[in-house]
Amino acid sequence: MFEENFLNGKNIIVTGGGTGLGKQMTETFLKLGATVSIISRNEEHLNAAREYFRELGYNVEAEKCDIKNPDEIKNAVDAIENRTGKINVLINNAAGNFISRTEDLSPKAFDTVIGIVLNGTAYASLEMGKRWIANSIKGTILSIVATYASTGSGYVVPSAISKAGVLALTRSLAAEWGHRGIRTVAIAPGAFKTEGAWLRLLPGDEYEKAIIAGNPERRLGTKEEIANIAAFLISDMASYINGEVVTADGGQSLYGSSMFNMMENLPDEIWKMMRQR
Ligand code: HXC
Repeated sequence: MFEENFLNGKNIIVTGGGTGLGKQMTETFLKLGATVSIISRNEEHLNAAREYFRELGYNVEAEKCDIKNPDEIKNAVDAIENRTGKINVLINNAAGNFISRTEDLSPKAFDTVIGIVLNGTAYASLEMGKRWIANSIKGTILSIVATYASTGSGYVVPSAISKAGVLALTRSLAAEWGHRGIRTVAIAPGAFKTEGAWLRLLPGDEYEKAIIAGNPERRLGTKEEIANIAAFLISDMASYINGEVVTADGGQSLYGSSMFNMMENLPDEIWKMMRQR
């Protein structure tokens, strides 16, 4: 579907681009002709990713930056723009999350996750939006949320309230910045096995099996499936999509929404009996 130069002219920053979904999106965007830079607060991840992309034949700028700190974002964007020119796409991918009973959380635990996911995303979006408005640049902001941004979720409450906030940010800025030529969009991934997420979110293998069993497609998502949606959403082919969130979860969040969906394994005799009744 995507031609080789599909993302030519896109100059992209991916937050949290050193690992997981961020790294996969970076790779996909590079292969489609974009210029991509990554920021992360973890220097080891940045160096490893740069090396990985260098071996693939791409030069990726990498800046150490904790998105909880707006000054660090400003400095990182300055440094990247000095080397690559004006940025026109921001991918808000960096996140922090872990499972916990909510009653076990400290205020600092809330602050930490909200600081990364909600505040960090807002700071990065604000930094880019100000630059784009000042320079009349048509930019796109794509934020990675989660299916529970719409529904809420137990055991990841700081993440759920943050992702809900990011979704509200996406919709709000679509309304406010649309006339500036800025689009804001989001992807809500379901279960994707990345090291960062699995380590912090899954107590063991049996939970992975339960997640797969609760998915209509009976599988987890692949990183490429998110990266491909992202490539489309930031491209000019999606130029009239603004404020939208694309869910990519194999139908998982709909599966639990009806008491009938669990009946898929009922034997034929039961269906015949129900028809007679
Ligand atoms: C209870 C915890 C905790 C846990 C940390 N805290 N982990 N409380 N249970 N498992 C508390 C700490 O005790 C501390 O509070 C406060 O949170 C801050 O913890 P730190 O370790 O000091 O913070 P920091 O080093 O900044 O680490 C941030 C982090 C960490 C969020 C805690 O997990 C991280 O760096 N994550 C980044 C990568 C990541 O999370 N990727 C997964 C994203 S998945 P006190 O008061 O004790 O000092 C995702 C969506 C998934 O976002 C959707 C799936 C469907």
